[in-house]
Amino acid sequence: MADITTDVLIIGTGPAGSATAALLSTYGVENMVINRFRWLANTPRAHITNQRTMEVLRDLGRDVEDEAYMFAAEQDLMGENVFCTSLTGEEIGRMKSWGKHPLSRAEHQLSSPSLMNDLPQTFMEPLLFKAACSRGTQARMSTEYVSHAQDADGVTTTCLDRLTGKEFSVRSKFLVGADGGNSRVAEQAGLSFEGKMGVGGSMNILFEADLSRHVAHRPSVLYWVLQPGADVGGIGMGLVRMVRPWHEWLIVWGYDINRPAPDVTEDFAVKVVRDLVGDQELQPKIKSVSTWTVNNMYAVAMSKGRVFCMGDATHRHPPSNGLGSNTSIQDAFNFAWKLSMVLKGQAGMGLLDSYNAERAPIAKQIVTRANKSIEEFGPIFKALGLLDSVDPVKMQENMDARCKDTPEAERQRKAIREAIAYKVYEFDAHGVEMNQRYRSSAVVADGRPEPAFAKDPELHYQPTTWPGARLPHIWLFNHGGEKVSTLDLTGHGAFTVLTGIGGDGWLAAAKALAKEFNIRIATHMIGPRQQWQDLVGDWANAREVRDSGAILVRPDHHVAWRADSMVSNPEAELRRVLKSILDK
Ligand code: FDA
Repeated sequence: MADITTDVLIIGTGPAGSATAALLSTYGVENMVINRFRWLANTPRAHITNQRTMEVLRDLGRDVEDEAYMFAAEQDLMGENVFCTSLTGEEIGRMKSWGKHPLSRAEHQLSSPSLMNDLPQTFMEPLLFKAACSRGTQARMSTEYVSHAQDADGVTTTCLDRLTGKEFSVRSKFLVGADGGNSRVAEQAGLSFEGKMGVGGSMNILFEADLSRHVAHRPSVLYWVLQPGADVGGIGMGLVRMVRPWHEWLIVWGYDINRPAPDVTEDFAVKVVRDLVGDQELQPKIKSVSTWTVNNMYAVAMSKGRVFCMGDATHRHPPSNGLGSNTSIQDAFNFAWKLSMVLKGQAGMGLLDSYNAERAPIAKQIVTRANKSIEEFGPIFKALGLLDSVDPVKMQENMDARCKDTPEAERQRKAIREAIAYKVYEFDAHGVEMNQRYRSSAVVADGRPEPAFAKDPELHYQPTTWPGARLPHIWLFNHGGEKVSTLDLTGHGAFTVLTGIGGDGWLAAAKALAKEFNIRIATHMIGPRQQWQDLVGDWANAREVRDSGAILVRPDHHVAWRADSMVSNPEAELRRVLKSILDK
C-alpha cells in the first residue's frame, strides 16, 4: 500500500513540470509535483519566450499571460544583436533579431495574438507554479525522485523526503519525468537516446552592474564579445546577456570540455566581467557562478508504458535559438489534454501514443538546430581571421585587416557581413518556433496534400489549416466591438468546431457528439450577422475550406481535421474522425 496516491505524479517543477501541473489542474486532473530543491529556479537561464509559448500561457488564462508581460523585458528591447570586441570596444557588426527587423515584426504580428518577450526563468517558473498550485496541484519541495516501478494499472514511485531523510512511496496512474537534462526518470524508464552529452563546456557568471551607458543606443539581450587572446574559451568569444535591463547580467564563457570544469573564483569572475565589458574599473557584484555542459542529445521515444518524459529530460541542447524552456512548455501543452481525456475515460490509451509521434520529431529538430547554430558562428570567426592563428597579436592583425583599402579587405568585409547576417537562423528563426506540423493518430488527413513551404521554413512561419498544423491566428470581431483571435475561440481543454454560413449541420453534429463522447466541443460560426465576423476577410483567406466547411481544432490549437464543405451526413463524418482521434 503506497503512502500517497494521486492520478499523476510529476517529477520536476521546471518549465516542463510546472506547465504540465498547471494545465492538468486547469483541466481538473488530480496531480502532484515534486522538486528535490526547496524552491524553483535560482538562476535565470531561459529568457527568450516565443509567441507559441505565450499562446500556451494565454490559454491558461489572460491573467497568466498578462503577468508574464508585466515581468518580461518587451520585444523592442531585445533585438539589436551586437558583435563587438567588448562593450566599450569596437563594434564589428550588428543584426536585428527576435522580430526587431520591421519585416520580421510584421510576420510576428500577423502570426499570433501573443508577443515574444524576454522573461527570465526565475520569473517564468513561479508564474506557472502559482497557476498550478492555486488550481489544485499538490506540491512537495525538498522531495527527490529515487526510482519507480510500473505495472498494467499504474506506477509506484519511491521518493526521498530530504528534510527527514525518509523514503516514501507514491502510487499514481501515470508518471511524468520533467526532471531536466540529467533525467533519472528517463534513465530508469529505459528511454533510448541519440547523440552525445558534454560536447562543450560553459560557465555562467551572474552579476549586477549598471551598464546602461554601453547599451542604451543598441538595446539587446545578447552582446557577443570577440577578444583575441582571451585565455579561456578557445578563440575567446564570450556572451554578455541581459537579465534585467540594464543592471543585471549573465556572462556565458566557455571552458575546455576535455578538462575538468574550472573552479570559478570571485576574482576570476570579476576579471572576465571587466574584460568583456571593457572597463577595468568596473565594480560588478557577482551574484553566482556555475558551470554547465553543451549537449547534443534527444530521445528517440519520449515515453515507456505509463511513464512520459518531456522537456530537457528528452531534448538536451545548447541555449542557441532560445528553444529549451519554450519547447518544454510546448511539450506539456501537447501532452496534458491527452492525459486528461484518457484519465476521464473520454479517450483510449492510444491517444497517448500520439505524444511520442508528435513531439519526438520536434525534439530531434530543435536539438539539431541549436547545435547547428553554434557551428554557424564558425564563418564569423573565419571571416575575421580568428581561425588562422592562436597568437593574439596575429589575430588582432587579421581583424584589423578588414579596414584596409584593398580588394582582399573588401572581400573580408563582405564575408563578415554575410556571416553575421547568416545568424538569422539562430536569432530570428520564426519558422522553427511556429511551423510545427504533427503527423499522428491524433490527426485525421483530409486527402489534400501538405502545402509546400513557399519560403524557408526555418525562418518564416506559414499558416495553414492542413490537419496537424497549428490553427492560423486571425482577428475576428463581434457586434459589440470586441476582438478575439481564432486561438482564443479554441483551446482551454476542449475541441472546437469552426464553420461558416451553411455549416449549421456541423454545429448540430458537434452538439450531439459532445454528448455521445462525453467531451466538450465548442462551436463557432463565423460570418456576417454571426457572433464572430470576419470583417477584414483574413479568415476567409486563411481557412482553406469553403463557408460551409468545418475545421476541428484540438485543445492544443492544432487542427485535428477539416472538411472543405458540408457533407450529406456531418454527424457520421465527425463521429468517424473523433473515434479515430480519441481511440474509441
Ligand atoms: P529543468 O532543468 O528546468 O527542471 C528540472 C526540474 O526537475 C527542476 O525542478 C529540478 O529540481 C527537478 N529535478 C531534477 N531531478 C530531480 C529528482 N531526482 N527529484 C526531484 N526533482 C528533480 N531556453 C529557452 O527556451 N530560452 C532561452 O533563452 C534559454 N536560455 C538558456 C540559457 C542558459 C545559459 C541555459 C543553461 C539554458 C537556457 N535555456 C533556454 C534552456 C532552459 O533553461 C531549459 O531548456 C529548461 O529549463 C528545461 O526545462 P525543464 O523543465 O525540462 O527542466
